[in-house]
Amino acid sequence: MSEKNLALLTFGCQMNKYDSEKIVGLLENSGIRLTDNLDTADIIILNTCSIREKAEHKVYSQLGRLTPLKKKNPNLIIGVGGCVAQIQGKKILQRAPQVDLVFGTLNINKLPGFIREIEETSARISDIDSNSDIDTDSAAIKREGAVQAWVNIMHGCDNYCSYCVVPYTRGREKSRTRESILTEIRGLSEKGFKEVTLLGQNVNSYGSDLSEGIDFPDLLSLIDKIEGIKRIRFITSHPKDLSDNLIKAMAELPKVCESLHLPIQSGSDSILQNMKRGYTSGEYLKNIDKVKEAIPEISLSSDVIVGFPGETDEDFEKTRDIIKSVRYDGIFLFKYSPRPETPASEFSNQIPNDVKQARFENIMELQKEITLNKNKKLEGKIVEILIEGNNKNDNSKLTGRTRTNKLVTIPTEGGFKKEDLTGKLIDVKITRANLYGLEGIIVGSRQ
Ligand code: 5AD
Ligand code: SF4
Repeated sequence: MSEKNLALLTFGCQMNKYDSEKIVGLLENSGIRLTDNLDTADIIILNTCSIREKAEHKVYSQLGRLTPLKKKNPNLIIGVGGCVAQIQGKKILQRAPQVDLVFGTLNINKLPGFIREIEETSARISDIDSNSDIDTDSAAIKREGAVQAWVNIMHGCDNYCSYCVVPYTRGREKSRTRESILTEIRGLSEKGFKEVTLLGQNVNSYGSDLSEGIDFPDLLSLIDKIEGIKRIRFITSHPKDLSDNLIKAMAELPKVCESLHLPIQSGSDSILQNMKRGYTSGEYLKNIDKVKEAIPEISLSSDVIVGFPGETDEDFEKTRDIIKSVRYDGIFLFKYSPRPETPASEFSNQIPNDVKQARFENIMELQKEITLNKNKKLEGKIVEILIEGNNKNDNSKLTGRTRTNKLVTIPTEGGFKKEDLTGKLIDVKITRANLYGLEGIIVGSRQ
């Protein structure tokens, strides 16, 4: 095959970004190179997200923009993968004649074969079947960074929260084996990576489908032993499965960072029940207390949905209350968006958009105040930073993160070079804090 260029547009969550790293790696192994330039690409792939309606609309508007390119170059192959592809399948081929390929979230490994088939036969393909082997050879994954890497530990979700499309787009929960995860992370360490973020929709139920007798805290303690890896993070934890053992592991394992993403979604018990979340606000708060007691420096984050069907002013006030009581370092805030096939989209008491919008803005303001206040508390403190590389907006500065996952920008006036410090743990004194992150100066090195 002669050398071809691939342009890849990725939307949505970390899982999709990780899948895109797989897509690039698999196609590079077939002699296809990644390009940023849509105009010169031979293959354009959209890795799509369907978590909210807006994300799904984006796919069709993007595809519309690609039509002139296809007219100019009829050999251009346009593929759609990700969650929208998994849900809509063939419908995309019908609605968008410029598309040649629709592939799912569970058969990414078949992508090189699909591309070859299209090149040879000009067929239009839609294949969203699950592949018996959804693990990709970890050596083939083309990582975006050089210090921090994503590692998927499980696929899918079995929780069926009443608003969420993920169980339909990513299938049933399936844990990767301990050996395949550890091999991937050992390989990352050999390549010089220092930090891993373990990915799963519900990492706390890791292992429950395996016959290996392993759970998530066990996995963390095995990863903690891997030489060269300095930091371990994980997303996402489901509050209903947060165990005392996990809290203990977080407190005791030196490499596991003091940062926990524990999505509350709503502070109202009746809304939580209608969401099918499996916990009450009281149970959630009890867990938060345990976490704060075991790990006093913990940084907490959450996902919050406003405007879920039937949400009254009183329910909304309870969401405000829980945010004020937990005092998250940051939240991801969403307006409820009805998704096809999900039970909540059929609920009769949908909330008008102007109410959702007002509640969204209200919580945004509340959270900004809390985030700023928490960041400001770090001013003057010396914290450990893992340097990730140059700052994206200003090349003369370095970028790194605290163990609590706060972004820190560091000027390099002291003559420090990116090459010397990337991947290093550095002591930084925080000189300024704002809503979006911290600024600091280097005061020492840890290695
Ligand atoms: N509408 C709004 N937000 C949603 N999320 C998931 N489904 C929806 C929906 N239909 C949010 C949840 C979840 C995060 C990844 O996206 O807060 O935790
Ligand atoms: Fe969606 Fe709930 Fe699964 Fe999270 S736990 S992916 S919100 S169904």
